[in-house]
Amino acid sequence: MFPIWLIFIFWFPSLKAISSNNYLEESYAKQVLEDAKTQKDWLVSIRRRIHEYPELRFQEFNTSALIRSELDKFGISYEYPFAQTGIVAIIGSGAPPVVALRADMDALPLQELVDWEHKSKIDGRMHGCGHDAHTTMLLGAAKLLNQRKNRLKGTVRLLFQPAEEGGAGASHMIKDGALGEAKAIFGMHVDLTIPTGSISSVSGPNLAAVCMFKVRIEGDGGHAADPHKSIDPVVSASFIILALQQVISREADPFASHVLSVTYVKGGTALNIIPPSVDFGGTLRSLTTDGLQWLRQRLREVVEQGAALHRCRAHVDFDEENNPPYPAVINDDTLHHHVGAISRVLLGARNVLRGNKVMAGEDFSFYQEKIPGIMIAIGIRNEGVGAVHSPHSPHFFVDEDVLPIGAALHTIFAETYLSQFPSSAKL
Ligand code: NI
Repeated sequence: MFPIWLIFIFWFPSLKAISSNNYLEESYAKQVLEDAKTQKDWLVSIRRRIHEYPELRFQEFNTSALIRSELDKFGISYEYPFAQTGIVAIIGSGAPPVVALRADMDALPLQELVDWEHKSKIDGRMHGCGHDAHTTMLLGAAKLLNQRKNRLKGTVRLLFQPAEEGGAGASHMIKDGALGEAKAIFGMHVDLTIPTGSISSVSGPNLAAVCMFKVRIEGDGGHAADPHKSIDPVVSASFIILALQQVISREADPFASHVLSVTYVKGGTALNIIPPSVDFGGTLRSLTTDGLQWLRQRLREVVEQGAALHRCRAHVDFDEENNPPYPAVINDDTLHHHVGAISRVLLGARNVLRGNKVMAGEDFSFYQEKIPGIMIAIGIRNEGVGAVHSPHSPHFFVDEDVLPIGAALHTIFAETYLSQFPSSAKL
């Protein structure tokens, strides 16, 4: 799922730690970026190999094998499998403090319509959300961190996870112990709304808690000429759908953010038959996980009582097996300032932007339920290469110049975290 991050140009506030000491030496940061840029050809080749053979959620076997073979080449140790195809690479002393970096590996059920040499070779599947770039950037960070492992004041766990797109792969990674002793986690998502060479970040609520729902309203079908001999589910479903639209407008705090969208209605087969049932469904979203719980409860109440009002029966299904609910992405404020400070040194203050809250979801939130975490947006907009189409579009295209930038950012986020936050008590 992709957050469409709308941005305001805004400079991160100066941190005392940065202005008063060498929190991050510019020459060192630039050196990491230069080192990452020397790896660009390799990064591009990895990303294109992943792009050509996209794999859907929990089927990322070849992608996973490619990552492991590269880790083997570098002599980086890793644990496998987590959540079926996931990998955790481990770099550093092996001792605390421990910090985690995360990338997602899965693609979308989408037909790529970009005509280029490295187009998806699998019909109906596409890396249309940039997870191929995420995986590549994290692999690049593995290489860079490994070159600097003697500088690491602790341990970095690099999580390559499956199934971000609706499968809640993060929650399965956690169940399988992927976080280990990590005290903080960093993630990033490519963003078409900001140019390559920039990042944006939000402190606090950033992305929505999300769930899906399906409803069946059952009546008693019959001849449309005799409605009094039927129980009409069409009228009942219509009433309920409109009543649902009043939940947020009349019951929710106007300063809180919620969404209730009904996205399909199905019922009936003929002009003169009252159908026995009507189906509809959609999605619920809130910028807080508690808000999503409240919406779920009210949806069930309005549907069941609305159906009863019309002598119908209601069945509410949150379809959790196929669409597990996601908590809200809540970014840690300290980490927000940490990434802002580093990114200003690495990319220049003008290229560090404040993002906006959006109602899309991200399973990175499962990690944030366990430890402080931050999800940043990393710019890939570049009209010159055609990187202008939104994620989940069949025309989506990544500016590959982002690859060394993301690898360098991951590297410095982790390395600097370990030296700046040796005690978890600081977070
Ligand atoms: Ni995505």
